[in-house]
Amino acid sequence: MPTYAIWNNKGGVGKSYLTFQIAAEYARTHLGQKVLVIDMCPQANSSSMFLGGMERGEAALDELGGATPRRTIAGYVRERISSPYQNPRVGAAYLTRPHDRNGSVPENLYLVTGDEELEMLASRVEGASRPGPDDAWPKVHQWILDLIDDVRQLWDVDQFTVFIDCNPSFGIYTELAMASAERLIIPFSADGSSRRAVRTVLSLLYGTTRLLGGERSEFARQLERFKLRVPGIYFYVGNRLTQANKASAAAFRTVVNSIGAEIYAVWRQNPNRFCIHPTGVGPPANTKAFRDMFQFEVADANTASVVSGALGIPIVALTAGQHTIAGRNHTVNQSQLDKQIPNIQELVSRIE
Ligand SMILES: Nc1ncnc2c1ncn2[C@@H]1O[C@H](COP(=O)(O)OP(=O)(O)OP(=O)(O)O)[C@@H](O)[C@H]1O
Ligand SMILES: [Mg+2]
Repeated sequence: MPTYAIWNNKGGVGKSYLTFQIAAEYARTHLGQKVLVIDMCPQANSSSMFLGGMERGEAALDELGGATPRRTIAGYVRERISSPYQNPRVGAAYLTRPHDRNGSVPENLYLVTGDEELEMLASRVEGASRPGPDDAWPKVHQWILDLIDDVRQLWDVDQFTVFIDCNPSFGIYTELAMASAERLIIPFSADGSSRRAVRTVLSLLYGTTRLLGGERSEFARQLERFKLRVPGIYFYVGNRLTQANKASAAAFRTVVNSIGAEIYAVWRQNPNRFCIHPTGVGPPANTKAFRDMFQFEVADANTASVVSGALGIPIVALTAGQHTIAGRNHTVNQSQLDKQIPNIQELVSRIE
């Protein structure tokens, strides 16, 4: 039952967009299985897309957040704050099925929606992870694992796939997400600061220090202390490849490859920080095989991505032609879809 977290410490790199596209396409191509998406981000961007986009999705978020208790991740977290170390086994009550509101999302996909209230609860979650019993830290950091387990009990199946959309900052709820995920997908944009962001991800999660005597991350130390699992890198994804001209595509690839070289160095030192793809050919033996397994590039989908997100229609289900967003018409070209759809399908075919 693989659990994927989509995270980068840098904002705006496509975490939510890719969570939406990947999970929806994964569900469509695995109709016999259930898919669970947990939105651990207070901005709830991917939830809004799953629930129907800018208008329907936002209205649904208001409704779910207005319920008592809130039928969102914050509702679950609130319940855990009042029972931090004893699992009340209530996680399944917080599920929503986007298909009931948005027919473009496959019916086998379920969502625990994001909620801005997470931000308000953060200090109480941190508080619960500190004092109290000795194992307060691991108990609190298992809340999301508990939630996934509650859903497993409800569904009574062992095989389902989980995708977690994360907030960029390494706050307590991102820690909870990381402590529950097995596999990490790191999207990044091909600009100068992405390299630094990927380094930060490695140091926060794995405690790598770049300077001699530098402080190791508290999170990495605690995971080791309590022998908890840290997610293995599954993909690093250069997102929004511009195909405007050959020169910009080449510049994009240069940045992706330079970040790739850095991640390859980590592989050479610590292959156990990676998750070998079960669909692949075993551990990569050279740089090319390494890239083939762990590196991916997603093209910029231009207007198609805006329409897809604003209307909550996964790109694979989007049709060319005019679409109305907030009373205005926008045209999706077939050529945009012809590039982006196989791109997302290829990425998803390599996810177990
Ligand atoms: N491949 C793509 N093609 C076109 N637009 C994209 C693509 N990926 C992401 N975007 C757009 O880029 C913007 C930022 O993406 P997104 O919100 O997914 O980033 P994020 O990493 O989740 O941001 P945050 O850190 O704020 O959570 C959005 O408007 C999204 O639609
Ligand atoms: Mg986001």
